[in-house]
Amino acid sequence: MSHNLLSGKKGIIFGALDEKSIAWKVAEKASEEGAVFTLTNTPIALRFGSLNVLAKQVGAEIIPADATKVDDLQTVIKRSMEILGGKVDFILHSIAMSMNVRKNRTYDDLDYSYFHQTIDISAMSFHKMLQVAKKLDAINRWGSVLALSYIAAQRTLYRYNDMADAKAMLESIARSFGYIYGREKQIRINTISQSPTITTAGSGVKGIDALLDFTERMSPLGNATAEECANFCIVLFSDLSRKITMQNLYHDGGFSSMGMSLKAMNQYNKCLDDED
Ligand SMILES: NC(=O)c1ccc[n+]([C@@H]2O[C@H](COP(=O)([O-])OP(=O)(O)OC[C@H]3O[C@@H](n4cnc5c(N)ncnc54)[C@H](O)[C@@H]3O)[C@@H](O)[C@H]2O)c1
Repeated sequence: MSHNLLSGKKGIIFGALDEKSIAWKVAEKASEEGAVFTLTNTPIALRFGSLNVLAKQVGAEIIPADATKVDDLQTVIKRSMEILGGKVDFILHSIAMSMNVRKNRTYDDLDYSYFHQTIDISAMSFHKMLQVAKKLDAINRWGSVLALSYIAAQRTLYRYNDMADAKAMLESIARSFGYIYGREKQIRINTISQSPTITTAGSGVKGIDALLDFTERMSPLGNATAEECANFCIVLFSDLSRKITMQNLYHDGGFSSMGMSLKAMNQYNKCLDDED
């Protein structure tokens, strides 16, 4: 059901790869809520993913870009302003990748060129995007910029590896840039710390099924789905959240505040019984 929360708003959505992607769901909801926007992803993702299907569905143009390249980001932002007829009101950064995770390099045996790549793609690209947008004065006053994070920025989760460092940096960038962009242009910058979700990036973390089961049992409201995450993004892009900035907002069914739950305790006791 649409509430027209983004009526008249323009945006740029980075990171929709296929229909499981969080960014894909955000694009669908943003369109339902009355926004117009451009879509962007890497040339390789455009070849292997299905972004053209989404583009057709929501009537958006696709602009290829590698978010680690400042020139590409300039092209995306300038082209978006041309296509949409002016400055934008929202930007979604829904981008992450770690070759160390993909290649099963453990945290005490990282490949440093992969580590640089993890940080560049998953965190520094957020700074680059913001810096380019600010220099081009591309975002309207009271605009909203969001990036997607994960609780591994605060706590150690087995196998999340160097992505934990990238997420910590991502959240810090939201605060540091949020101060400047807020002070000068009333533009808000936040991160959403989302539950584990089955997507291409999510499935890269080995054992995601066990993790999903654990967080489901630990969270009073259960895991948040990609669609629920998209709903939250819409609220944060809308004028209903104008004074929220520089925050990392947990969207995880309560997981981040839990220590032990009844369901997890029952499961733990069951395992001990099985062992006996
Ligand atoms: N899936 C989860 O469990 C989960 C949980 C919390 C946060 N997140 C975060 O949500 C965001 C979106 O991930 P997702 O789960 O929807 O997976 P996804 O695989 O659908 O999206 C990741 C996207 O990053 C893009 N990307 C990779 N390198 C890029 C580059 N150099 N330039 C531009 N784009 C690039 C990919 O093409 C892909 O579209 C990520 O930041 C991820 O860390 C995911």
